[in-house]
Amino acid sequence: MPISGSSPNKTFSRSDSVRTGSTVWQQSAAVSRGIQPTDQDYHDQDIATAINACWFRDGGNAATSNIPMGTNKFTGLQAGSTSGDSVEYAQMVAAIAAASFPSGTKTIFHQAAAPTGWTQITTINDYALRIVNTAGGGATGGSQGFAAAVNSSQTVSSHVLTTAELPHLTYNITDPGHTHTVATLTATIAVGAGGAALGNNGGATTSTTTSSATTGISVADTNGGGGHTHTFNLGVGYLDFILCSKT
Ligand SMILES: [Fe+2]
Repeated sequence: MPISGSSPNKTFSRSDSVRTGSTVWQQSAAVSRGIQPTDQDYHDQDIATAINACWFRDGGNAATSNIPMGTNKFTGLQAGSTSGDSVEYAQMVAAIAAASFPSGTKTIFHQAAAPTGWTQITTINDYALRIVNTAGGGATGGSQGFAAAVNSSQTVSSHVLTTAELPHLTYNITDPGHTHTVATLTATIAVGAGGAALGNNGGATTSTTTSSATTGISVADTNGGGGHTHTFNLGVGYLDFILCSKT
């Protein structure tokens, strides 16, 4: 067995089947064994077996297990070009850069803190998102914070109803009734012999007019004519995101 031990600590040692180590032939000479073909074959076959157990640098054989590198590196690699190839470092860096957001890219994240490689932007707070079809990305607008605008009482402008906007009204008028005083007609009737009327002495005989009188009914408009406002609270639910910039 030219190779002993277990991965990753196997070692090779020479042997002629009886003597082992770095002085196999000296040990053989010391016992006057001389050159024996069997010893030579055994020893050389050990070496051949050991060589065949090694990884050929020209790709003449394939690794039969994972290769422990002992924290060392493969160097001088050619960039991989197909599935199963190793990846060369510069090739990997370039590929990552190509697949990554450029520095300064800004976007939002639905999480508590900026992910690694990103920095949260804290100068913009309490804004809603608006999609535009122009090159205006990043601009801000509006005068109220989002939370205040959609989750607190808002008041619309005052408005005075016009005549056309007034509802039709029904007035319940009760007439209490009233009287008129008729002037008393005063006349002196002359009566002749045997009771015959001789005529009046000139008093009123056709009609009379009462004094002017009012009903006492009145309809009063006590409306103020002022405007009014409305309040509303949308109470819109919202989900917080953080705005971050790629470092
Ligand atoms: Fe109103």
